[in-house]
Parts: sequence; structure tokens; C-alpha cells
Amino acid sequence: MSGDTQKQAGQLETKIVAAIDATTDATALEAVRVGSLGKKGSVSALLKTLGGMSAEERQLNGPLFNALRDKIAEAIAAKKTELDAAALNARLAEETMDMTLPVDSDPQFEGRIHPVSQVMEELSAIFADMGFDVAEGPDIESQFYNFSALNIPEAHPARQMHDTFYLKAEEDGDALVLRTHTSPVQVRTMQQGQAEKSGPPFRFIAPGRTYRCDSDQTHTPMFHQIEGLVVDESTHMGHLKHTLETFLAAFFELDDIAIRFRPSYFPFTEPSMEIDMQCHRDGERLVVGSGDEWMEIGGSGMVNPHVLRHAGIDADKYQGFAFGMGIDRLAMLKYGAPDLRAFFEADLRWLKHYGFLPIDVPGLAAGLSNKTLANINKAT
Ligand code: DAH
Repeated sequence: MSGDTQKQAGQLETKIVAAIDATTDATALEAVRVGSLGKKGSVSALLKTLGGMSAEERQLNGPLFNALRDKIAEAIAAKKTELDAAALNARLAEETMDMTLPVDSDPQFEGRIHPVSQVMEELSAIFADMGFDVAEGPDIESQFYNFSALNIPEAHPARQMHDTFYLKAEEDGDALVLRTHTSPVQVRTMQQGQAEKSGPPFRFIAPGRTYRCDSDQTHTPMFHQIEGLVVDESTHMGHLKHTLETFLAAFFELDDIAIRFRPSYFPFTEPSMEIDMQCHRDGERLVVGSGDEWMEIGGSGMVNPHVLRHAGIDADKYQGFAFGMGIDRLAMLKYGAPDLRAFFEADLRWLKHYGFLPIDVPGLAAGLSNKTLANINKAT
């Protein structure tokens, strides 16, 4: 009898261990556990038979059955550990990530605003705050507006100086030109103001594209200028200097800037001055602000009465000042871009580096050029 019982226990063990080995997941293993060690399981049933045995048999079989139960419990635990590890490995294998793939990005943080566009927005925000309108004129301009109306007569050397791109002449007229500066917007806007009776007084800027047949490290055939014009009954050079100083301090986000006027010549202003801004050298780079160097950032002067007359304005009653500056140069100085040509090469890597996030609209209240940290973090 006891030999039978031992044999039975041995067979049961072999059977259950085989079943444990055969399982491939936690659910199957749990079924084997319930079928053996559970209340109605085979091992439990075997243990229950101890109750009907004689004391002798019980003494013999008790340890045997208990040992069987412990062995099965151990085998199940070991198998469970093995299955859990396998399941984890499978999950890890399935969830592997290619760290070299780009992060899923939000399209609104993908694009970049070109530094020239950014600076134009900044200029407009600053001058709007000072009460200036923003005027525009055509890129393809007549020789009248580009030259004659600005007191640059046909034989004048300034026409040659400008390295003008001429378009093919129409039969019935002069060749059109690609405007060589933003100054023609002065006369156009004043004429329009006269016609609409919206001025004088005038107070506007005109940022835009300009063209000259010139190309090297610091010149590109297309570049950008900002023109400024103020015309009123008592406008004087003090107003000009104050306007430029206020603008430059705001633009470069400095409390203190210094400019200096150097006598110069432009046909459309009298007197004419070159505008120099105080700066210092940091290695190769010019840094605006304090220092013992001066860099030229534009031209300016009191509007020549001839120009006012070309716009139909009474030059005995009105006078004004004008200025012109290179926008690309301002952008290079402010944002540290060393090579002008890169501005127009449409290299996405350059644009990612020097460009601005579209949602950061420059404004005087929120900061002209502050890229908010939150947005930088979201951007990729
Ligand atoms: N138009 C000039 C240029 O392109 C710049 C300039 C100088 C503009 C003096 C002005 C001015 O309005 O007053 O070189």
C-alpha cells in the first residue's frame, strides 16, 4: 500500500512538473497551480487522504506528501520567475526606441522667421511706438522716383554710383530700375499724403528690399534698407538725433548708446550726415554700446527742399529730416551673424540657428527679441 502511495506521489510529481515545464505564460502556470495546489487540486487531494490513514501510514506518507507539495510550490515559483523575466524581455524588445529619430514635433515650432523679417518687425514695433507709420513702395521703380525726385539729375554722378539694375526700356518711356534704395518711398508717400490730405505733417518709416549690381562678402545684389522721414513745420536736427538714439537704444536693448554725425553728401538732404554708432571690438566682432570705435550704420540729413517740392509740399513752410539704414547690417550686429551672404542662401541649418520662432512676435512690452524659454524648450 505505502509503496503504491509513494509511486502514486512520484507519478503525480512527474506529471505536474512536466505540466509546469510545458507552460509558456502566466495564465497557464496559474491553471497548473490551481489544479495541483488549489483547494481542489491534485496535491491537495493527496494530502487529504492522510486523514483516512493509520497513524503509521500517516507518519510515512505525511513527510512525503508535504515534500511533494513544497517541491511543486517551488517549481511553480521558479517557473513564474522565468516567465516574468521572459515577458519583461519581450516587452523591452518590442519597445526599443531609435534614439536617432527626430522627436515628434509640433509643426508650429518647426518653422523659423528669418532674422531680416524679425528685424523688420522689431523696427516697425519701435517706430510705431514713436508714432511713425509704415509706408511701402514698389521694388520696380521709375527713374523719376529712384533718382530725379530725390534731386539726382540724369547727369549726376550719384546715378552711376548706385550700380543700378536697369530693366529693358519700353518704347514710350524710360527704362524702369530695381530701386537702389528705399528713398523713393519718401516722395511717393508724401505725394499720396498730399492727395489724400493726410499730411504734412509726415512721420513714417519704409523698410524694404533694395538692389544694386554688387556682390562680395559684405554686399549682395539684393539687400534691405529702412528709410525714415519726418516732415513738419519746425522739425530740426535735434529731433533727428533724438529719434535715432531712441531707436538704436530700443533696438539693441541698451540703456545707453552714443551716436555721432559725420558730415557727408547726399543729393536729397542738406546738410547730410553719416550716422556712426559707438562700439568696441570683441575679437573679430564689433559689439555696439560703449567703446572707442565708431561704425557707420547709415545716412541722414535734413530733407532737401527740392525733394519736398517734387512731392508738392511748400518748402518754405515745411522742413524735415530723413535717414536710411541697412537692415541686414543691423541684424548682423544684433544677432551676431558673421556673413551677409548666408542671409540669402536659404540654408535650413542656418535658418534653424539664426531664425526666430513664429509665435514670438516682437513687441516693446513683451521684449523685442526674447525667445521665451518655454517655447525654446518645445522647439526642436
Ligand atoms: N538712400 C541712401 C543710400 O541708399 C541712404 C540715405 C542717406 C537715406 C541719407 C536717407 C538719407 O534718407 O537722408 O545710400
